[in-house]
Amino acid sequence: MKGIILAGGLGTRLGELTKVTNKHLLPVYSKPMIYHPLETLIDAGIKEIRVVSGPEHTGDFLELLGSGERFNAGITYSIQEKPLGIAHAISLAEDFANGEAIAAILGDNIFEDRFNFDDFYDGAKVFLKEVPDANRFGVAEISNGRLAGIEEKPKNPKTNYAVTGLYLYDHTVFYRIKNLKPSARGELEVSELNSSYIKDEKMQYEILKGFWTDAGTFDSLLRANILASQKEKQKK
Ligand code: G1P
Repeated sequence: MKGIILAGGLGTRLGELTKVTNKHLLPVYSKPMIYHPLETLIDAGIKEIRVVSGPEHTGDFLELLGSGERFNAGITYSIQEKPLGIAHAISLAEDFANGEAIAAILGDNIFEDRFNFDDFYDGAKVFLKEVPDANRFGVAEISNGRLAGIEEKPKNPKTNYAVTGLYLYDHTVFYRIKNLKPSARGELEVSELNSSYIKDEKMQYEILKGFWTDAGTFDSLLRANILASQKEKQKK
């Protein structure tokens, strides 16, 4: 399985913090934000990783992460010319995936869990976490133990289960993205991509045991720093 880290977007919710830099380069406790999802992939045994970012900051990621040798991984880069959505960013790594399954992770997601993707081979898989503010996320609808649907940032969430920013996809992902239509905000949405797998009854899910947070707002960035500090201290 190959890994993709999505590190594009404008980071507008972080105001002045992202005026001259990319959100995923901001510190989360002792390291740049992107190190956290990078370590999540590497700890899961992934050795080949593609970083997708916008034209303004791809050079900074190259400078920071280089070939990946320091991390015992091979890291390469794709440029998303315009912020056209997470699913669009994934589509840029089609050549890189080269028919293999992929683990796509959002560059601002911090996970406590360690993952093992060995039993994944077909369809797609998402990882859910119960949160108090589900309306900020993609929200899973679960019926009779099955994932029945995902709604992106609903005003009235049907459950408290957020769809976290780690997605496993089989090789049909690129074909599915080609058939997506841009949303009202002009993006190819990851929730629409996931809905295509749900429609075909090809979506699995797992509920996370450890903490999870994103870091795209002032409050979640603060929380990410606190959780990352706790995780690091536990390791010692
Ligand atoms: C994105 C996804 C959303 C997901 C979230 C996880 O939202 O669209 O479904 O729950 O990441 O961090 P964003 O933070 O880009 O608005």
